[in-house]
Order: sequence, then C-alpha cells, then structure tokens
Amino acid sequence: MSDGLSFHNIPIVIDKWRKDETYDIYTVGSRDKDAYFSPKEPKDQSIKPDWRYLFKLSRSWCPWQFWCEIIAYRFGCIIGVEVPPAHIGLSKIYEKNVDTYAALIEWFYDESKDIYITGEQIMVGLIKDFDTEKGRKHNLKTIRDFFKDRKETLNDWASVLTFDILIGNTDRHQENWGLVLKNAKLNPKGGGKVYPSPAFDNGTALGHEILEKNIDKYVDTNRLERYLVDKRARHHMKWSLDEEGQLNFYEFMKKYTVEFPETKRIITRHLSFDYQQVEEVLAPLVGAVSDPKYKLTRKRLDFVLKLIFGRKRILEETLEL
Ligand SMILES: Nc1ncnc2c1ncn2[C@@H]1O[C@H](COP(=O)(O)OP(=O)(O)OP(=O)(O)O)[C@@H](O)[C@H]1O
Ligand SMILES: [Mg+2]
Repeated sequence: MSDGLSFHNIPIVIDKWRKDETYDIYTVGSRDKDAYFSPKEPKDQSIKPDWRYLFKLSRSWCPWQFWCEIIAYRFGCIIGVEVPPAHIGLSKIYEKNVDTYAALIEWFYDESKDIYITGEQIMVGLIKDFDTEKGRKHNLKTIRDFFKDRKETLNDWASVLTFDILIGNTDRHQENWGLVLKNAKLNPKGGGKVYPSPAFDNGTALGHEILEKNIDKYVDTNRLERYLVDKRARHHMKWSLDEEGQLNFYEFMKKYTVEFPETKRIITRHLSFDYQQVEEVLAPLVGAVSDPKYKLTRKRLDFVLKLIFGRKRILEETLEL
C-alpha cells in the first residue's frame, strides 16, 4: 500500500459491543445512528480499545450511503486532511434476521477529558438571531473575525473546505464542525490546547443521491460537467453575512486564495494526489460486502472517482494552479 497506509477491508461485527445508552443526549442530525463501545481488547488493529464509535446507518432510500463516510476517511488520509476513521460496520441483530451495514466511526475526542464545542454554539454566541435550523447566517467572516488571534484558523478552514469541494460535500453546516478543548475537563482553569474537529459527517457527498440505475447517464460528459458546477455545488457556509448570491465551491476557494494568499500553498498541497493513489485505497471496498442491497459496485466507485477528479480539475483551473 502506498504511503504506508493500511485499512481494514473486512466488515466489523458490533453485536458484542456494549451499547452506549447515554447516546441519546448526543443525538443531533437526521440519520439513524447508535453509539457503542469497542471491546477492551479488539481483534481488529484498526479499532481503538474501549472507545466510543458511532454506528451510522444510511438513509433508507440509499443504502450505499454509508460508504461515503468510509471513502471520505480514506481519501482524507491520502490528501492530508483529518477525518475520523470510518470502517465497515455490520450488525446481525440491529434488525432481526437481516444484516445491517453502516459506517463505524471513531469518536474524535475523549469524553472523560476533553470538551467539545459545536460550531452551532459558536455561531449562536456571535450572531444575533442565528437560525439554527437552516443556518442561513453561517458564514466564514464571522468565524474569521472571532478567531483572528488564532493564526491556524485560516489554514484549517482552507483544508476542510478543499476537502469538501473534492468530495462534493454540501453539508458542512454549523453542526458539522466544532472545536475540541483538549484536556479541558482535567484543567478547569483553562490554558489547554484548542483543536478543530476533524472533518466528520461526510455522507451528503460523493454523488450519494444518484441512484445506481442513473449513474450511466453521467457517461455524457456535458451532463457530468453540469453536475459538477450546478447550484448544489457550494459550501453551506457563506463568505460573509452581507454576501449577495452564494459563491459556488470553486469561486469561494478562488476568493479565499486571493484574500489569504498564504493558504494557496496548503490547498496546492492537498491537491497533489493522483488517480492511482486514490484508486488503490478504495478498490478493496468493492467486494468487501456482497449483500446486493449494500454492496459498493465497481460502477459506483468509478463514478465517485470521476467526480473527485472532475472537481479537482475544475478547482485547479479556477485557482490557476
Ligand atoms: N466521530 C465523531 N466523534 C464525536 N462526535 C461525533 C462524531 N460524529 C458525529 N458526532 C456528533 O454526532 C452528531 C451527529 O453526527 P453526524 O453529524 O455524523 O450525523 P447527522 O448529522 O445525523 O448526519 P446526516 O446529516 O448526514 O444525516 C454530530 O453533530 C456530532 O456532534
Ligand atoms: Mg451532522
């Protein structure tokens, strides 16, 4: 495997894992999911011992959706953007007598030591009348102004926003990012380090909404091209509160590199991947699950690759790289 990356390509059965009965209090968002604790001595090396994991199901009309979280994790590893590890999860008891596949996603902070602040808590504190339902006032400028003394903030957002463009994630709303105050529960007086959350919740991406029977329609390059730049191709986040008309993915990033030229280097670095690297880490997922309801088909994987590399090309052209 290139770059020393290695991934677990076999479904991980969670039926003996302890269910996290407290998870309800964390339940935000729209998709069915449960939390479980991994065993103290997990069989699989990729599983952190005694650690919380989300078992995140696909929406019922697109049972392949959970692959997006797994693909996004592997892709994040290739381009150098942190994404919570996501594995193939399987339960034989979640629903009686059927196999249920889902993304098994590692919790990204230590509940006993760290404090997690959601983007929503931050935005609500900064913007009067912030509507939490649609997040219409979710915007980069307010975040930038608030974090102006934290110089990494612009670089961190350059990374996440580039990642979101490449996977076509339109859902990085205020509940899909946050800050981890490391060890804050151990040092209530403060002074601990603050980290951005990794890029979690990547299911609304990678053409998940396109049914298997419709994938062939995108052989038509004009249709594919239109899809890559259509009105959905934009970040949830606006540029600023007074922005008129929302910028698309590529224009947003162009503006970003014009206003903050030092971030161009970071974006360029994330874009320095090639087809073989990505194909190599994703190909083993085809065939990892044979159940026809859930399997990742080669056709879908090829489509996903086309989308990623189409967006890469448009972004590079727009940034004149
Ligand atoms: N890996 C993780 N570690 C810690 N907290 C997480 C993790 N993944 C999700 N969460 C928390 O759980 C919440 C819901 O999860 P997530 O955002 O993945 O699902 P969702 O919003 O229901 O998904 P979707 O919008 O795709 O249906 C998040 O807003 C976040 O607070
Ligand atoms: Mg979410």
